[in-house]
Amino acid sequence: VGVGRHRAAELDAADPLRTYRERFAIDDYGLVYLDGNSLGRMPRATPACLQQVAAVQWGDRLVRSWDEGWMELPTEIGDRLAAAALGAAPGQVVVGDSTTVCFYKLVCAALELRPGRTEIVTDVDNFPTDRYALEGIAQARGLTVRWIQGDPAAGPTPELLAPLLGEKTALVTFSHVSYRSAHIADMAAISALAHEAGALTVGDLSHSAGSVPVELDRDGADLAVGCTYKYLNGGPGAPAYMYARAELHDQLRQPIWGWLGRRDPFAMEQGYLPAPGIRALLSGTPPVLSLIAIDEGVNLVAQAGIERIRAKGIALTELAIELADTKLADRGVTIASPRDPAQRGAHVALAHPDAERLCAQLIERCVIPDFRRPDVIRCGFSPLSTRFVDVWDGIEALRALLESSR
Ligand SMILES: Cc1ncc(COP(=O)(O)O)c(C=O)c1O
Repeated sequence: VGVGRHRAAELDAADPLRTYRERFAIDDYGLVYLDGNSLGRMPRATPACLQQVAAVQWGDRLVRSWDEGWMELPTEIGDRLAAAALGAAPGQVVVGDSTTVCFYKLVCAALELRPGRTEIVTDVDNFPTDRYALEGIAQARGLTVRWIQGDPAAGPTPELLAPLLGEKTALVTFSHVSYRSAHIADMAAISALAHEAGALTVGDLSHSAGSVPVELDRDGADLAVGCTYKYLNGGPGAPAYMYARAELHDQLRQPIWGWLGRRDPFAMEQGYLPAPGIRALLSGTPPVLSLIAIDEGVNLVAQAGIERIRAKGIALTELAIELADTKLADRGVTIASPRDPAQRGAHVALAHPDAERLCAQLIERCVIPDFRRPDVIRCGFSPLSTRFVDVWDGIEALRALLESSR
């Protein structure tokens, strides 16, 4: 019943992005990797690029390399990322610290712009690091976090947000694509509501950049952050990026005043003065090798085009849901992601009471999704490297497991 594997293979043959899979280091042909939304695959060109940079720029040019391009890497890669995946004009994105640290910096910077306001709004299903950072900031500053209690299979909506907003609201923060359900938040509507209340926004783009089009400038975003190791394939612990809308640059003050965020850092003068523009969000020395490792992932997204990536993301998740409905529904699996593709990113949450055990057994069988509490098997489909037959094989492996444990 339902879609056969041959149909999935036909979809692969007709896929305009099929050749991109060869651009990744894929040696284990038996592996069904459905976790590129946790750690994206390694681009094939990246190790050689790192080796070359290490040998020449580090090994040979040494400290001279700071003046031969290294100092510009955070903004240069930021601008290319902005154009390829974020819908942001140049000069508004910089790559710097970890996602958690970047998020902390942007939230504090936003709060500085709204003195006297005492409330931060986010949702209970936001990613843990965002929730914890907000709790810490709120405690340190005597502020209150107001929580949106949403549907865990969806995400924060304008309807749920609106009643929590008021003259005390300093900041609204949300994930653009929910890490568990893949729900896409309506960034334009959330920005408009926040602005109407006089508040600012910080969006977390970790699950959207490189998988769904993001339009920061068009949708009125103020500040945004995101990681580069998922759909941007930058490698484990790759540095995150920060976006700040150009109109905010003059007033923006982030909390970690380091020398590389200072105007004219090598003057080494007394007193901190922020650098002009987006560089004011930087703090210390850029992680050069990690920045270099992001390069190819950003290239791949730029070359493939975010619209084609999005179209394939929709097709992969539609196939997964169709197969789950026909093969898994009568075995107790439900879809815990939006069914409307317009509201869904590139992963699908399959809910089952035994999700944790099933996930571990799938991994033993070389099918790798991940488990997200309390009951979700999260299947990530990276449009540049996941095939339709991988979707088919993954769902079939789960069906076989459920069948044998009956
Ligand atoms: C939405 C979101 N924010 C932040 C992070 C992680 O932050 P960090 O890179 O600091 O570990 C993740 C990781 O999966 C995430 O999904």
